[in-house]
Amino acid sequence: MKKILIANWKMNPVSEKEAIKLARAEDFRNAVIVPPFPFLGTIKKVLKNASLGAQNVFYEERGAYTGEISPVMLKKLGVKYIIIGHSERRALGESDIMIARKVNAAISAGCVAVLCVGEPLSVRKKGSAEVKKYIGRQLRIFKNSKSKDLIIAYEPIWAIGTGKNANPEDAAYVARYIRSIVRVPVVYGGSTNSKNAEYFLIKKEIAGLLVGGASLNGKEFRKMMEIAKRV
Ligand code: 13P
Repeated sequence: MKKILIANWKMNPVSEKEAIKLARAEDFRNAVIVPPFPFLGTIKKVLKNASLGAQNVFYEERGAYTGEISPVMLKKLGVKYIIIGHSERRALGESDIMIARKVNAAISAGCVAVLCVGEPLSVRKKGSAEVKKYIGRQLRIFKNSKSKDLIIAYEPIWAIGTGKNANPEDAAYVARYIRSIVRVPVVYGGSTNSKNAEYFLIKKEIAGLLVGGASLNGKEFRKMMEIAKRV
C-alpha cells in the first residue's frame, strides 16, 4: 500500500509568498499539504500532485458562528483532508463530543477526516495498558467505524515538537490496537524527520506520517517522501 505523508504546517509560514514556495517544494503525489486557512485557495492553485488539507473545521454547515469555518466551504475550496482533534486544539478546549461532531461533518461534506489521538507523558509513563485505555476512551465514539473517509493519526503528545519521537515498535503496537477498534488507516505523528521516517514507514500497521516541524523544510520533506515511496 502507498504510504501517505501529511504536512501539517500549523500556523506557519506567515507570508503567502513563503507558503507558495514551500507548497511547490512539497508537491508530490501521496502528499497532503495542510497550510493555514488564509492560504488554502492560493495553495490549491499551486498544487499539481499533492492533495490539499485543512487544520480544523466547524461542525455546522452555515449560520451565526462568528469565526468558524464550514466543512462545505472547505470542500468547495478543494480541500480533501481535514485534521480534527489535534492535541494543540484539544489543549484549547475541544472536547471528544465536539471532535466527533466535526468528524461527522467533515465526512458528510465529502472530505476525509484525519482524527488525532494520543496520550500525554503522564499516561505513557504508566505503561502501555494505560496508553491503550486512554486512546480507547478517545475513540469510543468511533467504535467499529470503517469509513473509507476516516484516518486516525496517533500522535503521542509528549512526542510533538519535542525531538523525542515514539519508539516505532510502540507506535506500531498502538496502531494495531487502534485498528482493533476502528478499521481505518493509522498514521503516526510526533518528531518525525528524514532520519527516523523509515523506521515508522516500514511498519505494516502504519499507513503514513503526520509531519509537523520537518514539513516546514522543503528539502527535508522531499527526503521523507523519497523514503515513503521506497518502503
Ligand atoms: P512535529 O512533527 O513537529 O513533532 O509535529 C507533529 C504534529 O503535531 C503534526 O500534526
